[in-house]
Amino acid sequence: MTTGCIGQTKYELDTPTLCIELDLMESNIRMMSDNIRGKGVSWRPHAKCHKTPVIALKQIRAGAIGVTCAKVSEAEVMAASGIDDILIANMIVGQKKWERLAALCRDSRPIVACDHFAQIEPLSEICVRNGVTCRVIIEVNIGLDRVGSRPGRDTYDLAEAISKLRGIEFAGIMGYEGHLLRIEDPREKRQKILDALSVLTECADKLRRDGLKCDIVSAGGTGSYQIAAECEGITELQAGGGIFADVFYQEQCHVTGLDSSLTVLATVVSRPTLDRAVLDSGRKTLNPDTQSPLVKNWPDAQIKRMSAEHCELTLGPLSQNLKIGDKVELIVGYADFTTPLHDYFYGFRGDRLEVIWPIAGRGKLQ
Ligand SMILES: Cc1ncc(COP(=O)(O)O)c(C=O)c1O
Repeated sequence: MTTGCIGQTKYELDTPTLCIELDLMESNIRMMSDNIRGKGVSWRPHAKCHKTPVIALKQIRAGAIGVTCAKVSEAEVMAASGIDDILIANMIVGQKKWERLAALCRDSRPIVACDHFAQIEPLSEICVRNGVTCRVIIEVNIGLDRVGSRPGRDTYDLAEAISKLRGIEFAGIMGYEGHLLRIEDPREKRQKILDALSVLTECADKLRRDGLKCDIVSAGGTGSYQIAAECEGITELQAGGGIFADVFYQEQCHVTGLDSSLTVLATVVSRPTLDRAVLDSGRKTLNPDTQSPLVKNWPDAQIKRMSAEHCELTLGPLSQNLKIGDKVELIVGYADFTTPLHDYFYGFRGDRLEVIWPIAGRGKLQ
């Protein structure tokens, strides 16, 4: 599809197509930004759900201080679009990647996470050789048990050692409370998240008492951002996916106040029986891992099974009139796994196509 489609309605487009409801996404961006900044916390949204600089720039115009990425190559894409304050919230290892990080430091101001001296000592040497300084934060394990240094002695020793390196600026700490997002009971969820984040803020306090600069204390995802924004001592939040407010956040994380804005437009390609329809959008189009998509506007149509190129629906009385050639929208279950399957976002204002954005970070895995 080309820009010749601009102005067309959703139902004139070929499928499958990854569609954004721009009004809804923009109102989600405003809502997240206002909510977080209203609590005196900075917003540095994770870009893994969109991987698209034009969306990151919209978030920055709405008040975000920069962007969070997971990969050096994603950071390069953002930097090439003029975004300079970029957190790579991931461990970066390998000579080639350290060289690229040092190169990034020439025109932008990346921050890279670490949980071991071995990730940063070689970066220091390369930065010194290139005459640049790279900001570094320590990821602390606050209970997710994925990566992260242990809170306490390990973290303090690492911070002290990093602070002595040339070509490196120790900038603070981060943690991610991803293991607590799905807790059903709101009071229990709130308390457990505040407890986990207090591990991080106590670490930051101790580092400062020891004379180390710890400007950044970063945490928070969409599934917890309203709670994390209230935690005293957290300076910035990484919540990002809420701009699409996928089914995952609404149903599994019980996030309120945001509207789903990302769908896949599909076509009915087969009607094998009265109560079955098959769409042209399977797992290569819409990844159901983590959370299955929902059928929009057809409440009694259920997704029965997804294979590589097919999505099979079971139809109820309200949806049994669907016929071959009809278009159906599927609300994306979890954008992180679906966005990277597509070349473009198709942005709609009302029912008219307004923009086509290349997903520039697609395939940027290194
Ligand atoms: C390091 C890190 N920060 C933040 C997030 C939250 O991102 P989102 O708000 O898009 O769910 C995640 C999610 O996996 C993460 O791994």
